[in-house]
Amino acid sequence: MRILLAPLRGVTLAPFRRTLSLRFGGLDGALAPFAALGGPGRVPAKIFADVAADARGEFPVEPQVIGRDPDSLREAGRILRDMGFSRMNLNCGCPWKFVARKGRGSGLPEDPVAFERMLEAGCEAMPGGFSVKIRLGRHSPRTLEERAEMLNRHPLRCIVVHPRTADQMYGGRVDLDAFGRVLPMLRAPVIYNGDIFSADDAVAIAARFPSISGIMIGRGLCMRPWLAEEIATRLSGKSLLPSPEREAENRARAFHFAEALAEQYSSQLFGPAPLLGRLKELWSYLHAAFEGGDEGLRRILRSTTPEALLAAVRFLAAGAGVDVTQPRFARGGELRDCSSDRIDGAQQR
Ligand SMILES: Cc1cc2nc3c(=O)[nH]c(=O)nc-3n(C[C@H](O)[C@H](O)[C@H](O)COP(=O)(O)O)c2cc1C
Repeated sequence: MRILLAPLRGVTLAPFRRTLSLRFGGLDGALAPFAALGGPGRVPAKIFADVAADARGEFPVEPQVIGRDPDSLREAGRILRDMGFSRMNLNCGCPWKFVARKGRGSGLPEDPVAFERMLEAGCEAMPGGFSVKIRLGRHSPRTLEERAEMLNRHPLRCIVVHPRTADQMYGGRVDLDAFGRVLPMLRAPVIYNGDIFSADDAVAIAARFPSISGIMIGRGLCMRPWLAEEIATRLSGKSLLPSPEREAENRARAFHFAEALAEQYSSQLFGPAPLLGRLKELWSYLHAAFEGGDEGLRRILRSTTPEALLAAVRFLAAGAGVDVTQPRFARGGELRDCSSDRIDGAQQR
């Protein structure tokens, strides 16, 4: 059973994927956030900048595209093959109205003719390595069932299924009954995605749907970056007794993971505003790993400079018992040497 990182645009970018795979175990690979193909015409190679370093990296990353033009998809496949990739995923689930209304993302499977053309083009462009990520439907939870036969006509490497409709966005419940209905109808290996926030969740999915070939986790891993380790342990049949020491250690690892990311983003992004945005997005998930996280998040989101944000982060982490080591940002988002600063968690409380 493979455990994969799901794409979260603006969050699971190259530095996140790389740092997560280096600092935490349990993951077998990742699907990158989508690159938009645009309308008919030349596909600029720069849309794949985020995955450029992944083509020959040790951690398997699969690029994802979104679009509805088969020629652009063929062109994307050619570019990705030239970059060294042998896999490509088509986003057929993006729920945003402005995307779906144009027949992209979750809007694509609504149009059977356009959908089939894209399946054909994708399988041609990336032989043996083309996959789709899809929801149950845009409005109806039956659309995927209705497209099963069509999907089975194409040699897909796998199908990632997020059992919600697009209308649900990310709210409400995943429809596991609908997933259970469609699973035996699909010939390609199926990867389950949705609402796995704990090892228990993953074990329950694996037990209920033994024929799935993997699970893909997005928000759960952004909230608790060590989650795949716990899942891998549980799925290998070992038990995982509650341990306050391990929890504390994991929180400390999550804090240092975020610090390492902040360092990388600060050297990549120009100016404080993009850095602030990126870190706020990251902490909108990661705060959940810390006790008192909600109050901590409010402070983080109120921050108007990277220095203030990092101070809020340290306050949050220290309040949850992490021994934090110090401000890494000078004004403007540059790094400064901070090895001598140290804040005691107890002092912060
Ligand atoms: C902020 C955000 C950005 C997302 N970006 C993408 C994306 O680029 N491509 C994609 O296929 N799904 C995207 N998703 C959907 C996730 O990959 C995933 O299907 C969804 O969050 C459900 O899985 P989870 O419950 O494990 O998070 C995004 C979701 C969120 C919340």
